[in-house]
Amino acid sequence: MPAEGGIAEAAAALRAGGLVAFPTETVYGLGANALDARAAARIFEAKQRPSFDPLITHLADAADLTALVGPVPEAVAALAARFWPGPLTLIVDRPVTIPAIVTSGLATMAVRVPDEPSARALIAAAGVPVAAPSANRFGQLSPTRAEHVVAGLGAAVDVVLDGGPTRCGIESTIVDARSGRPVVLRLGALPVEALVEAVGPVTVRPGSSGQPVAPGTLAAHYAPRTPLRVVEHAGPAAGGGRRGLLAFRERPAGGDWAAVEVLSPAGDLTAAAARLFDALHRLDAAGVGEIVAERVPDVGVGRAINDRLGRAAATWRGHD
Ligand code: TXA
Ligand code: MG
Repeated sequence: MPAEGGIAEAAAALRAGGLVAFPTETVYGLGANALDARAAARIFEAKQRPSFDPLITHLADAADLTALVGPVPEAVAALAARFWPGPLTLIVDRPVTIPAIVTSGLATMAVRVPDEPSARALIAAAGVPVAAPSANRFGQLSPTRAEHVVAGLGAAVDVVLDGGPTRCGIESTIVDARSGRPVVLRLGALPVEALVEAVGPVTVRPGSSGQPVAPGTLAAHYAPRTPLRVVEHAGPAAGGGRRGLLAFRERPAGGDWAAVEVLSPAGDLTAAAARLFDALHRLDAAGVGEIVAERVPDVGVGRAINDRLGRAAATWRGHD
């Protein structure tokens, strides 16, 4: 149902322990009442998500943070004040009111305030914090349109709010600032440069597949069903053999690509991020044998785009 108009019904479904898919500025989330362990368990079931992968709790307003978790470290509060609502997820201590299943037993909890009016209206109307991972099956492409959610999860969801395509198109940046200097656990829609400008130096932790603190950083993740390979630039000779191309700025001359998606003719990384998963969903549906994806400039949100492409490719190289 349309996001405006569907809020009351969706909020009632959340309060009743149901699952509601809803748009955020990053990707669509699969929400449940974060105070309700059984509702949260349904998220893991619907996504076929391993129980070791903790959920992000979503709040309607930055002011709700201390009401839920009490006082937070100064650096965490500063980031929340600067970037919420927005595509930044912060790590805090898990309050006792949040059941352990939400955080996969961790003593910490990931939390954010989405910058999407219908999402905030939904959470406010539900009157509870909302646990929500991206609304896709575990390891697969994130949904940036309601159609992606329906195609991927369908009957497992009680209500899908349709707010059209999401603005950022890529997940939130996850930061642990509890000990002062912020540590980026997952690259995302908020560029590292914006964090540095606001709060000074940060540490970017490269994805760890050994003991992941943010399983969204598992080496193999965000994968289409079609094998994907990353190249610097797709030359004219690289096409043929029913291959699909995910190009950054333009379709290269020649090459007989079966399907081509161009992320941003203007070379705008923000626009490219907004189109990334939608383009991958389309190439995945095009029936090609392989997707060739061009790396984008490794600055700003381009780092998060390259991160997602690398993880998608890792799935097809084997889990490295
Ligand atoms: O943009 C987003 O963040 C979207 C929208 C719906 O808000 N959500 C999202 O959720 O991307 P999900 O579940 O696909 O990714 C959440 C990531 C996971 O990799 C998870 O491991 C990590 O957040 N995470 C959750 N709790 C954590 C914690 N306590 N410490 C470290 N990482 C955590
Ligand atoms: Mg996800």
